[in-house]
Amino acid sequence: MTTARSAFRCLLGDQEIALDAFDGQQTLLDFLRLNQGLTGTKEGCAEGDCGACTVLLGRTENNQLHYQPVNACIIPLGTVDSTQVLTVEHLADPQPHPVQLEMANAHGSQCGFCTPGFVMSLAALHYACDSNDFTVGRETINDALAGNLCRCTGYGPIITAAEQALVQPIPDHCRSLQALGIQTLNKWASDDTYLQTNNAANIFAAPTSLADLTELMQALPEAQLIAGATDVGLWITKQHRRFDSMIYLGQVAELKQIHRNDQEVQIGAALTLAQSLETLQDLAPDLGTLLHRFGSRQVRAQATLGGNIANGSPIGDLAPALIALDATLHLVGPNGERTLALEDFFIDYGHQDRAAGEIIRMIGVPTQGHKYFHCWKVSKRFDQDISAVCGAFNLQLDNGIITSARIAFGGMAGTVQRAHQCESALVGKSADGSALDSGAKALAQDFSPITDARASADYRMHAARGLLERYLGTISNKAPDLLYPANAAPVLSAHG
Ligand SMILES: Cc1cc2nc3c(=O)[nH]c(=O)nc-3n(C[C@H](O)[C@H](O)[C@H](O)COP(=O)(O)OP(=O)(O)OC[C@H]3O[C@@H](n4cnc5c(N)ncnc54)[C@H](O)[C@@H]3O)c2cc1C
Ligand code: FES
Ligand code: FES
Repeated sequence: MTTARSAFRCLLGDQEIALDAFDGQQTLLDFLRLNQGLTGTKEGCAEGDCGACTVLLGRTENNQLHYQPVNACIIPLGTVDSTQVLTVEHLADPQPHPVQLEMANAHGSQCGFCTPGFVMSLAALHYACDSNDFTVGRETINDALAGNLCRCTGYGPIITAAEQALVQPIPDHCRSLQALGIQTLNKWASDDTYLQTNNAANIFAAPTSLADLTELMQALPEAQLIAGATDVGLWITKQHRRFDSMIYLGQVAELKQIHRNDQEVQIGAALTLAQSLETLQDLAPDLGTLLHRFGSRQVRAQATLGGNIANGSPIGDLAPALIALDATLHLVGPNGERTLALEDFFIDYGHQDRAAGEIIRMIGVPTQGHKYFHCWKVSKRFDQDISAVCGAFNLQLDNGIITSARIAFGGMAGTVQRAHQCESALVGKSADGSALDSGAKALAQDFSPITDARASADYRMHAARGLLERYLGTISNKAPDLLYPANAAPVLSAHG
């Protein structure tokens, strides 16, 4: 039985922090800089884009401590309860970390705002290299740095610094921090308490079981639910919204599990994208490729599958792919559990099929029927950018003839939607070319996209047709895979 605990706690470097009164929605960045005087961590954009505020967040899993780089600027402090936080100051004490030394040696340091963020991203990779036996190549280094945007002094020296640092052992003081982290986090995990503060600023609760979550949601029906806060964090920093009460989903055990049966893999809604990466990648390699382009490593370390669906965004990247894969949504609320096809969840722009008090518990993805599944994201930048268009295709073929089709697009309408007309136009045709013309014409009946800052309506329509062409070419072996060569680097999982 878990009991509520009113004091917030975390391990900041090697220091146990306990706060009886705290503002649950204060950002981790403000806490570090304003309350703790750790000003090495900088604020650049305050919206998760630039990486200047990168710190390491340590969480235990199977008795091991994994450090992930996260953007402190959009993390509400309450969500780091019972974790370890490392900042650039901790890396440098008592002597500089190999990443810091090599950044100086290779002339890789940037301005004072950006350099600490680069150092922290590379330090995360340094820790990950220690617990994995993959060879780190440039692609992996680039992936680790994708969330650190500004390179006023160039890319080359930073990569050189990384290459030189990553082959060096983890310094003793960093190993000690890790050992203390495991010890402290395990001690906290065994006391069966969860954070629930109710102070002058607001109520913040971080339940650890579905039963406690349900009770809290009944007691606080207006509470803002938070998972990775990569959307909600920006409501705080950019829209200056205040919440009287918040409930954090990221510690609810039942929302963090993965179950498999013959038909489907069920992925807990509060697992981060980094934590679900391996499972999704195993199901369909293109899902791994898509996730590789989702935000940055920092964003993937925080953002959850459930949050990406619950926000109902028409340009959310996972919904088109999961709809094409015929995924289902498992919701739980005051009236019990229900399951619905993911495509039926999105009713209209800003309107989803989620009753008051309901949460997404997990997402079920069929284990079969995706031999010909592919998806592609089109955005202005390769990394760290939101889609203009995202297309996902899943045809069934019999002797080269299309027998059924599931095609979904993001960025083409007010919600992520299936291309029903296009699907019908394809069925019965040969995948080897003859389907393209009628499929492309039908797309124009499916969608009337809008023009906005990301793309014009015309561009979106052309891009969607182009993706259809690319898909048909790919499954009939007519298009070379230009963007993702076979020797692309492995995407790092939650553990590295
Ligand atoms: C720098 C940056 C880059 C980004 N890049 C991308 C990108 O490439 N592709 C993309 O699709 N998105 C991107 N996003 C948007 C965002 O990261 C995703 O939508 C993310 O998946 C949201 O998940 P979260 O856990 O952070 O949600 P939160 O911010 O915690 O919550 C979002 C909403 O979902 C609700 N919610 C969360 N979990 C549940 C649940 N289990 N049940 C019911 N409601 C729930 C919350 O109450 C809230 O209303 C980016 C954001 C940033 C800041
Ligand atoms: S300040 Fe830019 S990502 Fe946090
Ligand atoms: S603004 Fe800091 S390196 Fe460019």
